[in-house]
Amino acid sequence: MKKITKVVIPAAGLGTRFLPATKAQPKEMLPVVDKPTIQYLIEEAAAAGVHDVLIITSRNKRAIEDHFDRSVELELLLQEKHKDDTLEQVRAISDMANIFYIRQKQALGLGHAILCAKEFIGDEPFAVMLGDDIVHSQTPCLKQMIDCYETYGGSVIGGQSVPWDEVSRYGIIAGQDVADNVKRVTRLVEKPAREEAPSNLAVLGRYVLDGGIFPLLEQTKPGKGGEIQLTDALDELARRQSVYALNFEGRHYDIGNKLGFLQATVEYALRDEQVSQAFRRYLTDILEQEIKK
Ligand code: UTP
Repeated sequence: MKKITKVVIPAAGLGTRFLPATKAQPKEMLPVVDKPTIQYLIEEAAAAGVHDVLIITSRNKRAIEDHFDRSVELELLLQEKHKDDTLEQVRAISDMANIFYIRQKQALGLGHAILCAKEFIGDEPFAVMLGDDIVHSQTPCLKQMIDCYETYGGSVIGGQSVPWDEVSRYGIIAGQDVADNVKRVTRLVEKPAREEAPSNLAVLGRYVLDGGIFPLLEQTKPGKGGEIQLTDALDELARRQSVYALNFEGRHYDIGNKLGFLQATVEYALRDEQVSQAFRRYLTDILEQEIKK
């Protein structure tokens, strides 16, 4: 079985659900407490032992490249001010992984963004982490995905159960159970109406894919919203090869919409050593005032 050494992070979308914040700023750079979202992803990849990272970017996304580059001026300034801890933190960001970039020239959908990685990946299995999905978990989510791939082989789709009245917002998985938290996938449906959904297990931002996905993506016609949907190609892949779905452990946040971003901000702040106590007090006060209203 081939080892997973590369991860693709598609980050070229327009972020229309979070306008105007994303007009000139990539949503993948929106900070959750004090770290841009995409840094959480790269830390998770590194913790899972995957160090070659390809970020799919586009116009208006330069801040991502700048963030993972050295910042010589800033480093000099911190050195002069003897802010050693901060200096170390800033340097660590550029040493976190081997990061490569490819531009998606037009936002033609997630499937198309992944297709841009074809030459970089070649014929190997690889991981995918969506640029706006972060997961807080005991075992890094990507590690859980890779463990599942190493147990069952094939491709693995990461997911979790969502409330039934929300299934129409997600790609939904149909399949047979092979373990407590693993299904063998038979079919995938992109954003089904509640009555058409085969289950409430939703696809959530993490994948391990076989190289066989690329020819399928090339044949995939634009689907919902005129975009080339990864879900359509995965549905086809599941008809031809083994595809598993892992119901991963952890708290998942979609920071690409306002509510998801706010939930991530509050919950990460409550876990942050520096601010958690004061923030907890503040939230309690606010809540008491709200209840009195
Ligand atoms: P989303 O559908 O959440 O991103 O894609 P979006 O299209 O930017 O969002 P909205 O709906 O307009 O608000 C999930 C991930 O795939 C990337 C996005 O950047 C995001 O990280 N993506 C999406 C691409 O790289 N290219 C695309 O054409 C579409």
